[in-house]
Amino acid sequence: MSRRSASVPLLLLLLLLLFSFSLCSSNSLYDSFLQCLTSQRQSFDQASKIVYQESNSSFASVLNSYVRNRRFNTSSTPKPLIIVTPLLESDASGAVLCAQILKLHIKIRSGGHDFEGISYVSDDPFIILDMFNLRMIHVNIQDESAWVQAGATLGELYYRIWESSKVYGFPAGICATVGVGGHLSCGGYGNMLRKYGLSVDNILDARIVDVNGKILDRDSMGEDLFWAIRGGGGASFGVVLAYKVRLVPVPETVTVFHVEKTIEENMTDLVYKWQLVAPSTDENLFMRLAVQPTTSSSRIGRKTIRASITALFLGGAEKLVSLLGKELPELGLKKENCIEMSWIESAVWWGNFYKQASPSILLDRVPGSMNFLKRKSDYLEKPIPKANLERLWKKMIALGKPELVFNPYGGRMNEIATSETPFPHRTGNLFKIQHSISWTEEGPEAEKNYLSQIRRLYSYMTPYVSSNPRRSFLCYRDLDVGVTSKGKNSYSEGKVYGIKYFGGNFDRLVKVKTMVDPMNFFRNEQSIPVKPWES
Ligand SMILES: Cc1cc2nc3c(=O)[nH]c(=O)nc-3n(C[C@H](O)[C@H](O)[C@H](O)COP(=O)(O)OP(=O)(O)OC[C@H]3O[C@@H](n4cnc5c(N)ncnc54)[C@H](O)[C@@H]3O)c2cc1C
Ligand SMILES: *[C@@H]1O[C@H](CO)[C@@H](O)[C@H](O)[C@H]1NC(C)=O
Ligand SMILES: *[C@@H]1O[C@H](CO)[C@@H](O)[C@H](O)[C@H]1NC(C)=O
Ligand SMILES: *[C@@H]1O[C@H](CO)[C@@H](O)[C@H](O)[C@H]1NC(C)=O
Repeated sequence: MSRRSASVPLLLLLLLLLFSFSLCSSNSLYDSFLQCLTSQRQSFDQASKIVYQESNSSFASVLNSYVRNRRFNTSSTPKPLIIVTPLLESDASGAVLCAQILKLHIKIRSGGHDFEGISYVSDDPFIILDMFNLRMIHVNIQDESAWVQAGATLGELYYRIWESSKVYGFPAGICATVGVGGHLSCGGYGNMLRKYGLSVDNILDARIVDVNGKILDRDSMGEDLFWAIRGGGGASFGVVLAYKVRLVPVPETVTVFHVEKTIEENMTDLVYKWQLVAPSTDENLFMRLAVQPTTSSSRIGRKTIRASITALFLGGAEKLVSLLGKELPELGLKKENCIEMSWIESAVWWGNFYKQASPSILLDRVPGSMNFLKRKSDYLEKPIPKANLERLWKKMIALGKPELVFNPYGGRMNEIATSETPFPHRTGNLFKIQHSISWTEEGPEAEKNYLSQIRRLYSYMTPYVSSNPRRSFLCYRDLDVGVTSKGKNSYSEGKVYGIKYFGGNFDRLVKVKTMVDPMNFFRNEQSIPVKPWES
């Protein structure tokens, strides 16, 4: 590490000298940035094609294209000074150098699904490095691997794997429009996690631009940095250009189902028993449980709670019906509830709200709808007792809107050591809860009301969830669990959210951060802080 950092500041200094002229002149920031980038790439014509400022007619559409939460699509949302959209890896490295020369804060965006919008919003003046043009995917079936660039979506990855082979898949997220750059760096998971672990448990190599503008792979970055960008959040360490992932075998036929029950249909017994079965059953079976307030169909106008169980089974329907007949008879699963299909069809079905469609829908980079969103997360080590579930339903009905989505762990998750990747929530966790609220009403009043509802439910859940610290999932970004104050990013501030997201892995992340980015150029509201100087 020290070998590299000794030579590069020289290069920076040289560039700084070159550009101090343009800085002193009346050139706009846009011109200065363009000139800087051009000197990196030797071609002015190219650079002007990938840099946008507010006066460019397509600035707003480029900015809005990857906003996935309407809360951050308003006129008062802070806007970037510049958006850079690299076409080549060297564009990203040029942008990293030029941002430092011109003292610009940088935000990195791949798919834009960050729940708090921190890939494209900042309180400091900032620019966006937008990775959507870098989305090549190379599948190598012989080698059971694929290189995928950061700007690709999960849907594109699944589709390209399926084009090459019907018996391989990849264990990552359910929503097809999620970006690879953010998802794999935050430790993303999907409905095969009980069988194959998280996306980050299946990464073989990576390419990244470091703070010196160097492009590194696993060999040249070293195992510490390679460890950090598999769950520690990429944006604290550099710009992830691509990951090489390990493909996992999937059977030719898988089975899915989606079954709903309300309180009146003995849902509580089912939910209670689900807590015991879902994290311990056959690792080929993933059963997600969602509970949400709704209106009763049998007793008009009455509020109730609906539980829905949505499953992926890596096997046939007959086997699944017999397995759940024994382990979860409360569900009353019948063969008619099950649909057998190929793995790629199951990816479509899960991502498309349990409707079938052509696999090509996975290539669609624009989600069907966009709402105002807030998410929070929790981990549970013990089941919630039946009587407490009944009280919880009353609370949820009283609040009105927030939902809880329970994702079972166990299986492969129990076999991977807590320190293997920065993601620490392994053995001992029965499931993760996603607290979820989505709304369509505009304006600050609605936002205030809905944020208050989800925070009240989160507070109500305190006795049942992990404590000291109450742990959180990085991919479900939640600024309520702690933020760095503007321009500060101290170790003590970082530790507040750092141990919730990373547990005992936080200190190793700080060490890596201090080694690779000691001046803290790559920072955001919840980035990994640099180690304070020992006195
Ligand atoms: C509708 C929806 C469904 C979801 N479903 C799932 C799911 O099934 N499973 C799951 O685990 N998560 C899920 N998530 C959460 C998702 O995994 C995270 O929000 C993830 O960070 C999104 O990645 P992105 O590239 O789309 O986001 P972005 O908003 O682009 O980035 C998120 C973070 O990563 C950083 N980043 C992005 N690209 C790079 C890069 N190339 N180099 C370095 N840093 C980078 C950003 O700066 C930001 O801090 C979902 C989110 C949404 C909105
Ligand atoms: C933005 O506008 C400038 C002129 O003001 C133009 O040279 C440049 O090509 C535009 N950028 C893009 C990406 O279209
Ligand atoms: C985001 O805001 C812009 C400008 O108001 C609007 O044109 C666009 O439709 C919005 N996008 C979504 C998906 O709401
Ligand atoms: C609920 O459980 C009770 C008692 O076990 C049973 O009598 C009743 O039929 C069940 N109701 C439904 C809708 O399954």
